[in-house]
Amino acid sequence: MPALSQLVALDQDTLRCPADTYEELRRRGVHHAPEIDAYVVARHDDVVRVLRDQSVFSSRNTVGRIPPPADPDRPTLSPLLLLSDDPVHAHRRKIVNRAFTPARIAVWEPRVREIAEQHVERLRDLPDVDLVRDLAALLPVRVIALVLGVPQDDVDRFRAWSEEITSSVGNHDVDPVRRDQVQAEFAGYVSALLDRRDEHPESSVLAQIAAAEAAGELTRHQCVSFVAELLIAGNITTTHHLSSSIALLAIDPSTADRLRADRGLVTPFVEESLRLESPIQGFYRFVTTDTEIGGVPVPEGSRVFVLYASANRDDDAWPQCPHMQLDRPNPAAHLAFGKGAHACIGASLARLEGRVVVETLLERLASLELRVAPDEIRYGASFVNHGPVSLPARLTFRNEPDRAAQEWGPTR
Ligand code: HEM
Repeated sequence: MPALSQLVALDQDTLRCPADTYEELRRRGVHHAPEIDAYVVARHDDVVRVLRDQSVFSSRNTVGRIPPPADPDRPTLSPLLLLSDDPVHAHRRKIVNRAFTPARIAVWEPRVREIAEQHVERLRDLPDVDLVRDLAALLPVRVIALVLGVPQDDVDRFRAWSEEITSSVGNHDVDPVRRDQVQAEFAGYVSALLDRRDEHPESSVLAQIAAAEAAGELTRHQCVSFVAELLIAGNITTTHHLSSSIALLAIDPSTADRLRADRGLVTPFVEESLRLESPIQGFYRFVTTDTEIGGVPVPEGSRVFVLYASANRDDDAWPQCPHMQLDRPNPAAHLAFGKGAHACIGASLARLEGRVVVETLLERLASLELRVAPDEIRYGASFVNHGPVSLPARLTFRNEPDRAAQEWGPTR
């Protein structure tokens, strides 16, 4: 079976480790893959070329199947940034950009650390720990709520909506009545927050969205869509990033030892984790005019599937590519956050969460053992999103006297 078919068929071993598939796709060069009805772009330089040229490679279709035409009587939430091209895209992005700059995000570090510490401490009392269910899946939504300006008391409700909306996006088989009901509840809640715009700190994302509404730049429905987009885009991606980083640490205790000995290595570790286990493996683009990629003609009207994750494993760009290296001169130059106009707006926030969670685990735990072998870790059933769905673990906290282990142990 061609390598891509195994990936598209969601074969667990291929999803867990798609590196060989990507190597074959890079060797083959740009080609049309009938399995996904798109031209596959897998080499680093070709991926960069596509991401940089949005006049030829439009973002009108980045998430796969083209959605059914919108029903004006039942408007659904649809991403404002991800699915638009400049100049509309650039204008919308400016509305929230200011809240996501590295300097603005750095201000949140103490609060993010507090949240991470609370969640890690709660693991102490659990009889049966799963580091995805009990940590990586809980933290990102709390952090997004914080940055948006959603009251922390409402986080549980916010998370429930987030999960339902996330699972309905791009899933045209979902029950439309339930989808409309959830979206209406979410819209009602966000609308009420927007109505209280004077109560939000000026720096919060909600305040900026509300100001754009007041200036006539966004409709109320677009404001709600904007909040939903940030929530959805920042949730499963960050959960997968945290889960993959934790798995890497647990599987290779020598890396954990190095990070303990030199905390300055946590930042390059987070970048290498993003490179090797990119939470978004690839996205689509829509070709607006006849063109070529890597010398292969690609006709107007076709779709291309750009594989960030394959570019991140291209040894033309990354010496010693399959290996985690904590001393790369350019650790953040990977494409896990995309590149060009649509490069991830939440990258600084995701990096902060990754670093703080790893630091907190290193500080609080004497040992972390997975209760499954590395080749039994289950991955989400998607060839776009990549990450473990469950990490059953045995933990020893540092001040627990009854466990002898003082090192992060091997699996099993
Ligand atoms: C490790 C976590 C994350 C990863 C790997 C990730 C990855 C990406 C990638 C690859 C893109 C580019 C899509 C494209 O090329 O079309 C993107 C865009 C985006 N991301 Fe992230 N993301 C993460 C976290 C976040 C967070 C925390 C937020 C917000 C709170 C966020 C919000 C967005 C938005 C709104 C876009 C669309 C930007 C645009 O089209 O201008 N992401 N992300």
